[in-house]
Amino acid sequence: MTRNEPFAGACLLGGRERELLLEVLASQSWSAFRAGIGEHDVRTLCELPSAEAANFADREAPFLGGIFVRRLEALFAARLGVRYAVACNSATSGLTMAGGALDLGPGDEVLVPCMSFHASATALVPLGVRPVFVEVDPGTFCIDPIDAASKITPRTKAIMAVHLGGVPADLDALASFGLPIIEDCAQAPGATYRGREVGSIANAGVFSLTENKTITCGEGGIVTTNDPAIALRARLIRNHGEGVVDDASLAHIVGMNFRLTDLQAALAIAQFELLDERNAARAANVEHLRNGLPRAFLPQRIEADATPAWFMLMTRYLPSPSMPSRDELVPLLHAEGIPVVGGYSRLLHQHPLFTRERPQSCPRSEQLNRELVWFPFINAPNDRADMDDVLAAVEKVLR
Ligand SMILES: Cc1ncc(COP(=O)(O)O)c(C=O)c1O
Repeated sequence: MTRNEPFAGACLLGGRERELLLEVLASQSWSAFRAGIGEHDVRTLCELPSAEAANFADREAPFLGGIFVRRLEALFAARLGVRYAVACNSATSGLTMAGGALDLGPGDEVLVPCMSFHASATALVPLGVRPVFVEVDPGTFCIDPIDAASKITPRTKAIMAVHLGGVPADLDALASFGLPIIEDCAQAPGATYRGREVGSIANAGVFSLTENKTITCGEGGIVTTNDPAIALRARLIRNHGEGVVDDASLAHIVGMNFRLTDLQAALAIAQFELLDERNAARAANVEHLRNGLPRAFLPQRIEADATPAWFMLMTRYLPSPSMPSRDELVPLLHAEGIPVVGGYSRLLHQHPLFTRERPQSCPRSEQLNRELVWFPFINAPNDRADMDDVLAAVEKVLR
């Protein structure tokens, strides 16, 4: 066996978590959210840019949450150069918020890449939306704009662009269709496309702070946008909005409880400060793996003028006839102590939730999924020596 030690997980104490958490604990305000609007005008309050919302004292505008939540939002918005960041309790909730904020509803179709985590599609289902599954590009593993174009109908109301593995999807090609776009940035905080950070480019972006992500507070999410109408509706959906609107155009908004606590926000602020450092460590590990892996492992293609923020190294494994097949390789590497993953257990259009309604097929992506080998352990503190174990194990099993 090449390696006996497990790789380190991604949930790491970085620096200021304890200090900020203790501050929240001592404040005895662990989630300052309340569902009432008080003296505020709902539109004025919910269209307030995050930089300004951060200036309210705790409990001055409890519809927008506690002070740590609003500080986290201001930090995210400033980094991305957008007016709004709306924190919530998961990216799954954030995707529902973004879909609802775009006014997607029953009968509407949204183009979703068939290769992603379930939530990229399922988060829209409670809105009554029907996901229409699109092939992914065999190079980038992100939504294929050509297949997307062929699936547009009069009912198509939006596109879900997932930056899979931290690799930016081709947003320019998607934008040419003139449809609203949600960027699913769950796996890609800090990635850039044509010089701008993902989550700041399309109508709305959604980030995840769940435990296996680059920065985490256990569970959490952030919706980003420049559009006041999206921010307004996202903030209403997050926090029982139906109770505070008089305006008929907003009255059909069903508010949930998607609030992030200040305890989580404190953790997220501490982690946010480490985003660049963590992305750099991931990039160094990916670089080392890419340089050392045999040519049979094709890494994801990066669009021109894009910079990935690696969530994991996803490769397409194309063995020569003398080499083990993908399904043979994965257990061989496991036996060497290297927990690679052989793609998704099934693609989104193959889930019973969707097959029972209407079978959809994405044969090219199904074939690609049978070729995938993922290297998920690229996070710090795993380093070059850990990646050398991976390379040694690959060399051994291919020898
Ligand atoms: C692409 C993608 N979208 C959405 C999600 C959902 O994120 P969360 O777990 O924060 O709800 C995840 C991962 O967890 C993801 O990888």
